[in-house]
Amino acid sequence: MACFAATLGVLILVGFINLSAANQYTCDLYAVVGLQSLLLPFEYDGLANSHVLRWTHNSTIVFHREKGRVSVGRSEDISTVGSLLLNNLQFSSAGTYQANVLNPNGTLAKTWTQRICMMDNVSKPRLTYMCDPKSSAVNLNCHAAYPQGLVFSWTLDEKTLTEETRQTLSISLAKLKGETSFTCSVANKVSKEKSDTVRPTCKGPPPPTLFCFTSTTVVAVLAGGVSLILLLLIIIITLCCCHRRIKTQTTRREVRMLSLNKRESESINPDYETMHPNEYTVNRPATLSVDSEVKQPSPVPKPRTITPHTANI
Ligand SMILES: *[C@@H]1O[C@H](CO)[C@@H](O)[C@H](O)[C@H]1NC(C)=O
Ligand SMILES: *[C@@H]1O[C@H](CO)[C@@H](O)[C@H](O)[C@H]1NC(C)=O
Ligand SMILES: *[C@@H]1O[C@H](CO)[C@@H](O)[C@H](O)[C@H]1NC(C)=O
Repeated sequence: MACFAATLGVLILVGFINLSAANQYTCDLYAVVGLQSLLLPFEYDGLANSHVLRWTHNSTIVFHREKGRVSVGRSEDISTVGSLLLNNLQFSSAGTYQANVLNPNGTLAKTWTQRICMMDNVSKPRLTYMCDPKSSAVNLNCHAAYPQGLVFSWTLDEKTLTEETRQTLSISLAKLKGETSFTCSVANKVSKEKSDTVRPTCKGPPPPTLFCFTSTTVVAVLAGGVSLILLLLIIIITLCCCHRRIKTQTTRREVRMLSLNKRESESINPDYETMHPNEYTVNRPATLSVDSEVKQPSPVPKPRTITPHTANI
């Protein structure tokens, strides 16, 4: 039990230390690097030459004046009320500044402590966008060189979107009507910069039927179509081949049948001819008999004999 209490006590103590450490790193003043001058706002109205004025930076004495004599620093950097003017500010100008005024009898008249933080000016942010048809939105991104610790803000048609303080912004395509303009701004403690105006042009949400198809279904449908076409081609080719084979077979059969018919007619004709026994001989083919019949009546020209003529002479 005692051990537990001790552990708890240590934990609470550590927590306190952490808290105080966190507080130590808060800044009272922010200044931009490259700034010409900054007046640290310490004032002691009754400041006189009899007083001792001392300024320290990170515990290093940067100004000391006693009995009107300046031993450290420049008298022109101190105002009549004891303010210190910092010149040509750099990152090294950051830190804890303390002013002390001592009475002539050596007691502390006034003390002042502030922590100064140095920062770079933010650079102008670059605003880009991407249309996301999947979520039916436009995604905007505000690009900044060093986004840590920066404050982002957004405007839509020149109206500030007070809810939006992140580096990215997502707006549904339904809200994009015509020429919707966007800007983003980045700010740190010392500066603020605004991007150029961007007018996203995204295609409206695609028709729901198309929208429902996933890429796998599209691929499946395509594959199905291709295989269907292939199947049809195969069927057509097979049909063509079969048809041609049948055709050749039939033509062959036709030729065979024709020749058969011829033979049959050749064998039949004589039988037919027997029906006219008076005119034709049994074994003679019809054509031949016709030929002989035509040839028979044709008169064969006989060569003229000279003998009677000579006889006449
Ligand atoms: C910082 O930016 C401000 C404008 O935002 C400008 O006036 C100033 O000159 C800049 N300072 C430096 C050191 O660049
Ligand atoms: C003073 O301290 C701060 C941080 O504690 C540091 O950034 C700065 O450079 C210091 N400056 C000098 C001159 O030591
Ligand atoms: C020192 O001087 C101041 C003002 O000059 C006075 O208020 C204070 O009481 C003096 N302290 C002592 C210890 O004399």
